[in-house]
Amino acid sequence: MQLQETVDYINEKTNNFQPEIALVLGSGLGDFADDFSDIIIKYEDIPHFGKSTVKGHKGQLVFANIAGKKVVMMQGRFHYYEGNPIDKVVYPVKVFKKLGVKTFIVTNAAGGINREFEASDLMLITDHINFMHVNPLIGPNDDDLGPRFPDMTEVYKKELQDVALAAAKKLGVTLKKGVYMALTGPNYETPSETKMVKLLGADAVGMSTVPEAMVANYCGMKVLGISCISNAAAGITGEVLSHQEVIEAANAAKSKFKSLLLEIVKNV
Ligand code: HPA
Repeated sequence: MQLQETVDYINEKTNNFQPEIALVLGSGLGDFADDFSDIIIKYEDIPHFGKSTVKGHKGQLVFANIAGKKVVMMQGRFHYYEGNPIDKVVYPVKVFKKLGVKTFIVTNAAGGINREFEASDLMLITDHINFMHVNPLIGPNDDDLGPRFPDMTEVYKKELQDVALAAAKKLGVTLKKGVYMALTGPNYETPSETKMVKLLGADAVGMSTVPEAMVANYCGMKVLGISCISNAAAGITGEVLSHQEVIEAANAAKSKFKSLLLEIVKNV
């Protein structure tokens, strides 16, 4: 079976590292892993893994002991908009489950819908809306991973949200809260789509995270999600959006985001 081949390969390369926490590092955050890397495996070398094509994403798994915790980090993720089939987007999550991961921490850059958000704010994801018109759980169910009809009442575990809020408080970092909605991208929204996203109840909008969080929850992992608000969503200020602006805001938030993640890892 594919999943087992992938897991066997990783276990061999890492000498059965068996991480307890998985961390997906979103745009601009990838170098968090550079501070801690013990073992690195390139995605292209891992059997059945997808390919990451986004500039500025390294495309590797990094294994490290951080504050006494065994952590696997994704430097670069697989987006649906890159043309990856949805099962490739979520494949690493299933691999993490098989490696023994219990806590799944996912980060991203997102557009701010809530007018109280400013560029470089951090937002704790309290819930999400899947608006990608694709569902990674469709298909024959693998009962070893999770149930056919998984509950999604508390994808982002309250107890982990409390850990994140306490960590932010300790560091003096403002951590806002909100609902994340995922569209496929790769384009940013039109002003009318931004209005729709707001009407449907989201505080931030992005192009990732939801498929991975759904699968992690389905697999019984505890999920924590944090967005870096990189810009006001299109139409809010009237300014046009660029990927450069997203990267710059993510970079400006990088140092507080990294300290927050470290503090969270220490306390989960
Ligand atoms: N929209 C969607 N995805 C994003 C945005 C945005 O404004 N900013 C960063 N990722």
